[in-house]
Amino acid sequence: FHIDIDASETDKGVYPYYMLKEVDEQAIVARTLSQHYFDDDNQIQNIDPAIIEAIQSADRLYIVAAGTSYHAGLVGKRYFEQWTGKPTEVHISSEFAYDQPLLSDKPFFIFLSQSGETADSREVLDNVIKQGFGSLTIANVMNSTLTREADFALPLLAGPEIAVASTKAYTAQIIVEAILAHAAGNSTLDLKHELAKVAVEMQVIIDQKEVFKTIAESALRDRRSAFYIGRGLDAAVAVEAALKLKEISYVQTEGFAAGELKHGTISLIEEGTPVFALLTQTKTAGLVRGEIAQVTARGANAVIISSKALAKAGDAYVLPEVNELLMPLLTVIPAQLIAYYATLDRGLDVDRPRNLAKSVTVQ
Ligand code: AGP
Repeated sequence: FHIDIDASETDKGVYPYYMLKEVDEQAIVARTLSQHYFDDDNQIQNIDPAIIEAIQSADRLYIVAAGTSYHAGLVGKRYFEQWTGKPTEVHISSEFAYDQPLLSDKPFFIFLSQSGETADSREVLDNVIKQGFGSLTIANVMNSTLTREADFALPLLAGPEIAVASTKAYTAQIIVEAILAHAAGNSTLDLKHELAKVAVEMQVIIDQKEVFKTIAESALRDRRSAFYIGRGLDAAVAVEAALKLKEISYVQTEGFAAGELKHGTISLIEEGTPVFALLTQTKTAGLVRGEIAQVTARGANAVIISSKALAKAGDAYVLPEVNELLMPLLTVIPAQLIAYYATLDRGLDVDRPRNLAKSVTVQ
């Protein structure tokens, strides 16, 4: 397949790496998406009503994706379930054994993909179509295989994403999932207004790069392993934060639900082990604070990234405040920049990590 990309859009310009340019573009993408999917009267636009109808008439939603796009699905699940009331399963494309019993008579499949060409996802879509189920692809590259072959397609409008490590596509996917769930559901959130706040606060974080450079160098220099922990939506961001760090800096990083530490992983904590704790969800903040105490008691270097309402003295970075459901859009930015600076600190190629391709078009 050939994607027509305007040369000027793919030029790094003043940036040393595409990844940094793409991290920087996230606030603009958030605004672009809000303007594309909401009209001036705050009504949804540019979403085919048949998509809304398909979601509303389904008895179960399946989000199918790979890698970072799968991680965006973990966040989107919350929006679909909370706002549409539809049970929503999130599956890794390659693991989605389509011969597993589908627990529904009327499933609707939502494919998340930056490239629209991921072979693992295309394999599932082929089977979904064979079985006559409805499908939507949310992708950055339109006129790609997944967008062409699904019943419906919605654009991420993030502009070309060149760096192997996906950043703006991830936040764009979360935004489009929120807008779609809002459009198909009964959310009372003034989502357009909330997304406008998200865009402003994204830019605040993006403008504090020096903070994350310092954190990356002090917490990760000479370290061979690291952890990201969190609960609820922060656990969903933790796995994405871990992928960002490990895939470009090669620091073995695991992201998992903080409550799981006591079920095994705490045995890995040694003197100085970097543990990045994400703390933005009120309901579980006390528990995560307890888990942070557990790992620091065993010598871990806890780097706490908390929201303003939950912050405590000593936290490494305090995030601006937006609606808790949308906090993943902010929480991921420090993780993206920590991965970027840890990789620079190791003298590695940020945009082209070893053994990885931008679009995995083989199974
Ligand atoms: C993202 O940082 C990774 N490079 C990779 O996991 C990517 O998200 C995955 O290959 C899925 O690609 P897609 O979104 O184009 O389908």
